Amino acid sequence: MNLDPAWYDAIATRRSRRRYSERKVAAASLEALRAFCGDFQLAPGARVELVEGDGGIFTGLLDRFGGAYGRVEGAPWTAAFIGPKGAETQVGYVGEAFILEATRLGLGTCWVAGMFDRGAAARLVKLHRREHVMAVTPVGHPVERKQFVERMMSKAVRSAARRQVEDIAPGLTRGWGQAGSGGPAGAAWPAWAVAAVEAARVAPSGANIQPWRFRLQDGALVMSRAEKTYWTAPLDYGIAMLHVELGAAHEGVRGAWEHLTEPDVARFVPNGD
Ligand SMILES: Cc1cc2nc3c(=O)[nH]c(=O)nc-3n(C[C@H](O)[C@H](O)[C@H](O)COP(=O)(O)O)c2cc1C
Repeated sequence: MNLDPAWYDAIATRRSRRRYSERKVAAASLEALRAFCGDFQLAPGARVELVEGDGGIFTGLLDRFGGAYGRVEGAPWTAAFIGPKGAETQVGYVGEAFILEATRLGLGTCWVAGMFDRGAAARLVKLHRREHVMAVTPVGHPVERKQFVERMMSKAVRSAARRQVEDIAPGLTRGWGQAGSGGPAGAAWPAWAVAAVEAARVAPSGANIQPWRFRLQDGALVMSRAEKTYWTAPLDYGIAMLHVELGAAHEGVRGAWEHLTEPDVARFVPNGD
């Protein structure tokens, strides 16, 4: 299954939503999501499974009054992001493609890697040997306006805030280049690389840490680990990799990823044609 250019537009409208209304998900949308789950599978085994209801898996964080803070509520459908240990980055990539497909269909989602019951999730879907549910998302129509708890949850992780482009891609120079910009002699970055970084900048990440940094090297876009990361970083990298590809494709550039060793993560090498 190829990347859908509509996912690029979905990047701008996606937001994590944690409260869902009773409005039914249209049959055509469910069909599209099921088709996605069947078709979009990445070696070595990163895949998505969609199930009805939430199986009580969204626990939230228990607060000291016994309430659950940050819990997802009312999800009519749940998708599980599945893979073997070591395939976190691929699961991040496939999971984000699913999230953007759901967004394209007008549905709400929220990556949840921490606040869910892993045992219950493993019972909710059929796992093959060595597979784990690494994260889940609710799927449905969110309530129109965020209520108090959802607002507080978004606020707690400063959901809307993103680092400046200069922070995540220190050498990035736009347009005709600016003296003292830190780029090689102020040379402008190609439009595809700027679009790729901007698409990655707004990607979701665990606790909104945004653990990725970018530099241009030998014509490739290198993604490296930020100094401060969260335990979801391997998933976060996969998510950002999909965004990079969608941003580059929007500027007409396709390419391939090569995995690198820490602190670099991978580099996106544009095709030669
Ligand atoms: C890998 C990953 C794991 C996450 N885990 C949780 C979680 O356990 N609970 C939760 O409420 N939000 C979780 N989030 C949602 C992030 O808090 C959210 O993406 C971030 O604050 C940015 O907000 P936005 O998605 O609205 O742009 C997770 C996001 C990612 C990418």
